[in-house]
Amino acid sequence: MRAAVFYHYGDENCVTVTTLKKPKPSANDVLVKVMATTVTSGDWRMRRADPWAVRLFAGLFKPRQPVLGTEFSGVVEAVGADVTGLHVGDRIFGSKGMKMGAHAQYVSLTADGCLVELPDNLTYEQGAGVIFGGATALTFLRPYLESRPAQRLLVIGGSGAVGTYAVQLGRMWGAHVTAVCSARNHDLVRSLGAEQVVDYEKQPLPDPGNPFDIVIDTVGKSSFSKCRELLADSGVYLSVSGGLREWGQMLLSHCPLSSGPRVVCRIVDENANDAKWLADYLERGDLTPVVGQTLALEEIQKAHVIAESGHKVGNLVVNLWET
Ligand SMILES: NC(=O)c1ccc[n+]([C@@H]2O[C@H](COP(=O)([O-])OP(=O)(O)OC[C@H]3O[C@@H](n4cnc5c(N)ncnc54)[C@H](OP(=O)(O)O)[C@@H]3O)[C@@H](O)[C@H]2O)c1
Repeated sequence: MRAAVFYHYGDENCVTVTTLKKPKPSANDVLVKVMATTVTSGDWRMRRADPWAVRLFAGLFKPRQPVLGTEFSGVVEAVGADVTGLHVGDRIFGSKGMKMGAHAQYVSLTADGCLVELPDNLTYEQGAGVIFGGATALTFLRPYLESRPAQRLLVIGGSGAVGTYAVQLGRMWGAHVTAVCSARNHDLVRSLGAEQVVDYEKQPLPDPGNPFDIVIDTVGKSSFSKCRELLADSGVYLSVSGGLREWGQMLLSHCPLSSGPRVVCRIVDENANDAKWLADYLERGDLTPVVGQTLALEEIQKAHVIAESGHKVGNLVVNLWET
């Protein structure tokens, strides 16, 4: 099978396309013919080992897993002897999570992993761009939005993989959504449900005024100290790409003696329950995956450059079979 591989950390040139052995599913596994995958911010960070701590689990001197890629969509090619509920020919989408390996024409994963049926109304390209952005936005926003209508939500990075889902979830749950991105993407985020937009090239954040209940920074372009004045006292600052500083701020802001807005960081656990939840809303048309661009596997280096630019729109999809 064809796959994109990297054997050392570095720039996009360390990723090349080669031929690898097709995986063999064991008794509990499902072999998937991958039709489409994505290149995410997680992929380029892993390829660069950025931050350096990535090496602690991905391989100290060189990557242990040479094939990047988390999320995918495709067709069940074979199932192990003990697998029930999935059949050859099923259209599915899912994620290999931190195990990675989805930038390949076939993946094998356990049947009880993050793997669900692809709704009929979605193409494979759309289905590839669900888990990374959708499960992340869902994990961060659900506790603060789902059962609390009429919240005021600010999405920083509203046009990226996580941001496009954050805007849509906000709209779906009845929030008043303001999105920050460049003017190039204002029509897009408005079409997804943003009622107000801010062009960060003119001003990084909206003017303080009517306070927000929730600020979600999907791209790490703000800070808690700058967003504090935008937030209600009971508000939360959701830091999707938070580093040590934000994790420390989370601890401090949750101390019994502290008052005012709180910081929340999380490590997202991509799982089948969330994938199924997303599939249901995608099937009803309440959510739509945004595919900014589709490239061929042979264009994988170009895909990495675009993802690393920090300006990709929605999901950057890679088609595994078309040239
Ligand atoms: N906590 C977790 O477990 C977890 C899970 C998944 C992802 N993440 C993290 O989430 C982050 C988001 O990833 P992503 O894939 O959504 O990013 P992305 O798709 O690369 O986001 C790019 C978007 O950010 C916008 N942008 C760039 N500069 C901006 C600025 N100064 N202000 C506002 N918007 C700006 C761009 O808009 P323009 O093109 O208009 O400039 C572009 O549409 C990554 O850092 C990733 O590591 C964390």
